[in-house]
Amino acid sequence: MQLDYDLAFLLIMDSQKTNLQFTNQVANALETKLGEESFSRVFVLVDENTERHCLPIINKSLPENYQLIVIRSGEENKTLATCEIIWQELTSANSDRHALVINLGGGVICDMGGFCARTYKRGIQFWNIPTSLLSQVDASVGGKLGVDFGVFKNHIGMFSEPDMVFIDSIFFKTLPEDEIVSGYAEMVKHALISDNEMFIDLQEESLSSIDWQKWVPKSVAIKKAVVEQDPTEKGLRKILNFGHTVGHAIESYHLDKSNSLKHGEAIAIGMIAETYLSHSKNLLSANDRDNVIQYLLKVFPQQEITQNAIDPIVSLALQDKKNIAGSIKAVLLNAIGEAVIDIEITENDISRSLNYYNQLIK
Ligand SMILES: NC(=O)c1ccc[n+]([C@@H]2O[C@H](COP(=O)([O-])OP(=O)(O)OC[C@H]3O[C@@H](n4cnc5c(N)ncnc54)[C@H](O)[C@@H]3O)[C@@H](O)[C@H]2O)c1
Ligand SMILES: [Zn+2]
Repeated sequence: MQLDYDLAFLLIMDSQKTNLQFTNQVANALETKLGEESFSRVFVLVDENTERHCLPIINKSLPENYQLIVIRSGEENKTLATCEIIWQELTSANSDRHALVINLGGGVICDMGGFCARTYKRGIQFWNIPTSLLSQVDASVGGKLGVDFGVFKNHIGMFSEPDMVFIDSIFFKTLPEDEIVSGYAEMVKHALISDNEMFIDLQEESLSSIDWQKWVPKSVAIKKAVVEQDPTEKGLRKILNFGHTVGHAIESYHLDKSNSLKHGEAIAIGMIAETYLSHSKNLLSANDRDNVIQYLLKVFPQQEITQNAIDPIVSLALQDKKNIAGSIKAVLLNAIGEAVIDIEITENDISRSLNYYNQLIK
């Protein structure tokens, strides 16, 4: 599938035409935008980490009487119970429908804060200031809002785009390194599914000195182009699942283990497995396979998938909510920068790919 995202790139760089603003002066950008609007009340939602590290960066731009809502960090708090705390804060302050919620944090804060805003009194405005790499390149566009429900991730929610998004890499200065690496996996995925040149260029970069102001907008443009062409995930949008059929199963398997993996770390292993399968299904050349896999092995942490884990991981991949009628449909590559959707893979394919991965890391 070919993706033309140059237009999306031009559009998002023109802040007049989009709700996305890339900036290296987030405080000023926020102050200007707040000056153009009029809200009855401004709320800022943070977790304890973004309160400490990110709030001071924008504090001076907020109205004097803004109200802070602090919740506990972590995916385990992305629940309806936390939503109740947020709704209660909005209610106790007698907020009307002209209030604004500013979500300052990673994907948990942005997904959940947006959901709470859009359901409070049938919907109030919310702006996102994503502070993690993952939330900037992945969660900032596409309009997916919601919370987890028991063991089911993102089970309760809706599609609704934020009214405004400010993206600034200044926040990465305090972001833990493993969070950077995890978010970077989604950036590499964007290159692999749609932009060969970007993949070549990324190989020249090092995570300690990479120019985020250059690469984050490019990565966001790819995601934006995909979701705009297929907002409800009927076809093209599936390419964003590259690495996720196997990767997500690996992530789920390790959730309650001592060696649990961050989302992007698991996706990187998933991308290795699915790149291997792309070649074994005669879609990708051996040369391109080796090129992609060598890079992924170099940049992302390696973790052996034990023999005991292989069958449970295969079962988890079978349960993926994106499968249809018991068959496993994966996104594979037919070139670097070009993905194909709905390729049927078997349980045996998945276990072969995991054994292949294990051999590589020995
Ligand atoms: N809506 C979407 O399309 C979409 C896409 C991808 C992921 N997600 C969701 O996003 C979540 C994962 O996002 P995430 O990785 O940002 O998780 P997160 O919000 O849990 O943030 C990760 C950790 O980094 C901390 N943190 C964030 N910014 C920081 C900063 N600048 N300095 C210091 N610490 C900081 C947070 O407090 C947290 O401990 C998941 O819930 C996932 O479902 C949503
Ligand atoms: Zn992902």
